[in-house]
Amino acid sequence: MPDNARHHVRRTLHTGDRLMLLVIDKLLSSEEVAQYRAELDAAPWIDGLATAGTLSAAVKDNEQLDELSPLAIRLGNEIVRRLGTNPLFIAAALPERIYPPKFNRYAGGGHYGAHVDSAIMRVADANLTIRTDLSATLFLCDPDEYDGGELTIEGEYGASSLHMVTPVTRGARVCAFLWVQSMVRDEGKRTLLFDLDQSIQALSGGLAKDDPNLLQLTGVYHNLLRRWAVV
Ligand code: NI
Repeated sequence: MPDNARHHVRRTLHTGDRLMLLVIDKLLSSEEVAQYRAELDAAPWIDGLATAGTLSAAVKDNEQLDELSPLAIRLGNEIVRRLGTNPLFIAAALPERIYPPKFNRYAGGGHYGAHVDSAIMRVADANLTIRTDLSATLFLCDPDEYDGGELTIEGEYGASSLHMVTPVTRGARVCAFLWVQSMVRDEGKRTLLFDLDQSIQALSGGLAKDDPNLLQLTGVYHNLLRRWAVV
């Protein structure tokens, strides 16, 4: 992901809202992104309406890679494997199941108007059902490659919020996106665990590995996770 990925996303928050929106930089290297783009730019893209639900069809105007194409499956598996080795993603999402990444492209005014994602997604060929607790977008382009195309999220929660992608007026916005079912369904509990984990990580740099307070905090983290996680 490019360094300046955070400029891709805009939040419209109401006072008091607590939304966990996390940027993970460089999940893929620049070389890997270039390789992905070479393959994606040469691939056949299909109308995004092919996978739109009845409500979202009215507001969806983009292109997608055929989810069952060998390229989508191969790159998607690579992305999921990479996420599985990313400590920040693991700490924040506490993933239980990940929906196979989809690839989309917005160009020439393409956009996705305000909509909500389905709460439950079926992956028919894997006989898998996923609750969409979190969503993630992996940008495969630099922000200066296109104008517009901002993911705009309204309200308090992640995947459950009304959101949209504004029209792309120059260039192309090429991304992969996916949903995550978390071991910890409740957003508030998941955020507490993430905050605690990040504090423990920060403190541990300046303390001995057997520091009793550090060990106790680590115990608190795991005992909360044991109470709250469903696996
Ligand atoms: Ni959506």
